[in-house]
Amino acid sequence: MCGIVGYIGKRNSQEILLEGLKKLEYRGYDSAGVAVYTASGLQIQKAKGRIANLESKLEEAPLNGSVGIGHTRWATHGKPSDVNSHPHTDNSMKFSVVHNGIIENYITLKEELIEKGHVFVSETDTEVISHLIADLYEGDILKAVQKAVKRMTGAFALGVLTEFEPDRLVAVRQASPLIIGIGEGENFIGSDIPAILEYTRNVFILNDGEMALLTREGVELMTLEGNFISREMFRVDWDIVTAEKAGFDHFMLKEIHEQPRAYRDTMGSRISADGTQVTLNELTTLTPEAIREINRVHIVACGTAYHAGMVGKYIIEKMARIPVEIDVASEYRYRSPIITKDTLVIVVSQSGETADTLAALREAKRCGAHVLAITNVVGSSVAREADDMIVTLAGPEIAVASTKAYTSQLVAFYLFGLHLAQTLGTQTAAEIAETLAALKALPEQVEAILEQAEAIKGVAEEMAKHDNLFFIGRGLDYAVALEGSLKLKEISYIHSEAYAAGELKHGTLALIEEGVPVIALATQHELLEKTVSNIKEVKARGANVLGIAVEGELELQKSVDSTFVIPKTLDVLAPALSVVPLQLLSYYASLARGNDVDKPRNLAKSVTVE
Ligand code: G6P
Repeated sequence: MCGIVGYIGKRNSQEILLEGLKKLEYRGYDSAGVAVYTASGLQIQKAKGRIANLESKLEEAPLNGSVGIGHTRWATHGKPSDVNSHPHTDNSMKFSVVHNGIIENYITLKEELIEKGHVFVSETDTEVISHLIADLYEGDILKAVQKAVKRMTGAFALGVLTEFEPDRLVAVRQASPLIIGIGEGENFIGSDIPAILEYTRNVFILNDGEMALLTREGVELMTLEGNFISREMFRVDWDIVTAEKAGFDHFMLKEIHEQPRAYRDTMGSRISADGTQVTLNELTTLTPEAIREINRVHIVACGTAYHAGMVGKYIIEKMARIPVEIDVASEYRYRSPIITKDTLVIVVSQSGETADTLAALREAKRCGAHVLAITNVVGSSVAREADDMIVTLAGPEIAVASTKAYTSQLVAFYLFGLHLAQTLGTQTAAEIAETLAALKALPEQVEAILEQAEAIKGVAEEMAKHDNLFFIGRGLDYAVALEGSLKLKEISYIHSEAYAAGELKHGTLALIEEGVPVIALATQHELLEKTVSNIKEVKARGANVLGIAVEGELELQKSVDSTFVIPKTLDVLAPALSVVPLQLLSYYASLARGNDVDKPRNLAKSVTVE
């Protein structure tokens, strides 16, 4: 969590830091700050709230200088406030630190430093770092940081400046992401590539346990012990424009509308021209022999990626007949899962940096499993540490509420399920070709759904007046119901619950009363009659039911108050369509309630703390 940016060059750093922070605001946005080396030494400005608040303060009292660090915060230790904002400093105010992560032993360190006379002003763990570095400083900031990190446990990406050495910026990565941008006569640090992409496409991606010394002239990479490392530069091949709103009011709406393109790109050349085969050339260690050895699959992820995994479980079991377990990543490693060398662990992560997902991946590898990552970010920690990777080509996703990444993850699961089926012979060539043909039709079908966005807007505005609502569905519809409910909660703040339709009567039905909105997903033909019975149960208690149904299902339409119809597809592919009206529903409900759609309260896009 939190976003870090840093600059050392010849330009005015304030502008570069602010622009970088705006690109990183998705990582946290409850306060922000910068430290700049100015003519009168190291100066800090911070403000509670959005980056715009910091910007106003800096407009009134600019910090002029060509070296600086900045931070946008998602609070962990200490409430959002000016004093708890980063950058943090020491008592001499000569050192300045921005931090992403958590220092687990900060209390011990703090007590030790207080004994030595250090006075702390904030409630944060980060403040300990600036005091510790100041305490260990003997004229070389690089050495002081190296000594300090030896004393620290936990997760930390750091940017460090000292007034004593104004031509050096130190960056550290330990279990929180950090990249270095290489310019001409200027260099950058950032939690993520968009922060610096306006200025350079050449980056070094730091690994855990690595640090960098940046000057205007160059960058030295080294281990935390100071052993130099040589690394190939990574050239970013996507454009900053793809990380802009492109005329849409919000990133979320733009990203919802990008789904047909994301589908096409993610399928791309992975489907043979004659539409009969899936080719996942990127799988290098997961050879046909290795696939035949797999006797169980574990899917591990968080949030929306977990919901994509629920669909993935269904796909793999149906297509490849391998048993699949699914866990939220924060639970996985604490339940002593049975992982052997014949287990395939699939980690799903848009960002590839979610701390719990990464920890689950490491646990799986430690136990000898084969790890496949489905991720949207090449070069992310998850991507680099997994044995194999399927990249979703959704493009950068900025809105906190995930949309195009989720649907691209579904496509990745469809392709992988088919790949397993081809390899294991669990589906006939005709079945595979039929699914591929239906997959290829999805982008146009999503376009058709998006054309009906206005119809959903009306329903959403009505729902926005309620404080509680329910999503129900069976089978794959239940997995999509969970995602629809999460989306709505995240951005509209309406309380909602998703229930397996048949389970509702075992308790939750007590909450259904006159006028309560229920969104019933009914796209699975074999389960249709059963779902209709469950719809009748809620209707009988006064619920106002919106059905999400496949074109032509007139029987269902008669049982509900209103219907949103999705185009015909195979049952297994229905989630890739039925989630789209639910995304729009959440978007318009959030708008109707006057919320900040792209930056919902208390949340962040990338959760790099446990
Ligand atoms: C955060 C985001 C969610 C996301 C989850 C997992 O909670 O707000 O939208 O689904 O993290 O993120 P990942 O990057 O691992 O998919």
